[in-house]
Amino acid sequence: MHQDIKEILLTEEQIAARVHELGAQITKDYAGKTILMCGILKGAVTFFTDLARCIDGPVYFDFMSCSSYGSSTTSSGVLKIRKDLDNDVKDKDVLIVEDIIDTGVTLSHLVPMLKERGARSVKLATLLSKPARRQVEVPVDYNGFEIPDAFVVGYGLDYDSRYRNLPYIGILKEEVYSK
Ligand code: PRP
Ligand code: MN
Ligand code: MG
Repeated sequence: MHQDIKEILLTEEQIAARVHELGAQITKDYAGKTILMCGILKGAVTFFTDLARCIDGPVYFDFMSCSSYGSSTTSSGVLKIRKDLDNDVKDKDVLIVEDIIDTGVTLSHLVPMLKERGARSVKLATLLSKPARRQVEVPVDYNGFEIPDAFVVGYGLDYDSRYRNLPYIGILKEEVYSK
């Protein structure tokens, strides 16, 4: 275990088992359809690539990078798009893939935006959800795990851009972020 990690919240095996379940459910729900998977950079990358390999059916990959401002003080915030999707989502079945839903601000902007662009359907898959932190309600279609309000890193999630490559979800030691 990494020296900055206090405790492993979700092991590689637990994550893999849950991702397989989500992939099987998505495969069933989208039978006969083509999915446009939209990963939100950068945190979602690990979950995205694992989930994609658990979906049996036609899938296209696309990515978007955005950041929400004002999310810590207000539930409205403004969404800034750093890199937009390459695909036109009109008439597509879009599956947004996130690593974690925290306040919900990011998704509360993204889902209506993609619907406005004419997507046929917009669904949301997230590996983690922290309900205790929610400021805006976001309907989640595929949720891996509900987790407590702890500082988690690994499997794509960062603190100060670090720890994304840890294969598990770990709780960071307080001393790492209180310095
Ligand atoms: C994190 C996470 C989600 C978003 C969730 O991304 O990956 O995209 O915040 O927060 P919210 O529900 O409060 O809007 P971050 O901005 O840290 O960027 P990153 O994915 O590049 O780490
Ligand atoms: Mn993110
Ligand atoms: Mg981050």
